[in-house]
Amino acid sequence: MSIADLRSKYSQTALADDNLPGNPIILFANWFDEAVKARIYEPNIMSLSTVNPEGRPSSRVMLLNKFDKNGFTWFNNYGSRKSQDLQTNRFAALLFFWPELERQIRVEGVVERVSEDENDACFQSRSLQSRLGAVASSQSKPVQSREEMEARLAEATAMYGDNPPRPASWGGYRLVPDQMEFWQGRRSRFHDRILFTRQADGSWQHQRLQP
Ligand SMILES: Cc1cc2nc3c(=O)[nH]c(=O)nc-3n(C[C@H](O)[C@H](O)[C@H](O)COP(=O)(O)O)c2cc1C
Repeated sequence: MSIADLRSKYSQTALADDNLPGNPIILFANWFDEAVKARIYEPNIMSLSTVNPEGRPSSRVMLLNKFDKNGFTWFNNYGSRKSQDLQTNRFAALLFFWPELERQIRVEGVVERVSEDENDACFQSRSLQSRLGAVASSQSKPVQSREEMEARLAEATAMYGDNPPRPASWGGYRLVPDQMEFWQGRRSRFHDRILFTRQADGSWQHQRLQP
């Protein structure tokens, strides 16, 4: 069988024009709910794309920590490769793909740091091992060996015990969307696509795109 034959005939549901909410975050929340109910494996998994100062894009998988009307939040190291990209180019894109529901959601916009209070709260909510790991890891920097990483972890454990402080380099970003596109697979590749675009006054407009 060729890779091109590995397709199913998308036919579960439609993305109808009527009943669309005015705000795409509400549609995202509805779809996210449905993804949870459908027991999709970690629907909070998303791809994050950033662009470096030379205009070169890169993507990686991240975990969505939270979303609300203000945007989509994740946590990482502020010294990482993606964070360095974001320091010079604040535009970024998120992608959710829920194949069991034949759905894709694209989110684009500008990224901002979350508050220090939010950073502290999220850090404290993590397991001890995860907090120690955050202290021990300079994300995206090269390291000689796994042994060196283990030694750094042991050092952090010896130094801080069960109360490691949040490193200043660890924290979150929020992507504030100005575009969100919802894609629903339909038969014969004649898919539904609805693009929401934020207007200057903060309201949203949507239009249907051809598949
Ligand atoms: C399922 C999954 C979830 C991940 N979640 C996160 C996350 O929430 N935060 C994070 O910094 N890296 C996360 N990663 C690791 C990133 O994909 C990436 O390796 C890391 O952030 C370094 O990326 P960078 O070097 O481009 O900055 C996750 C990876 C996978 C596969």
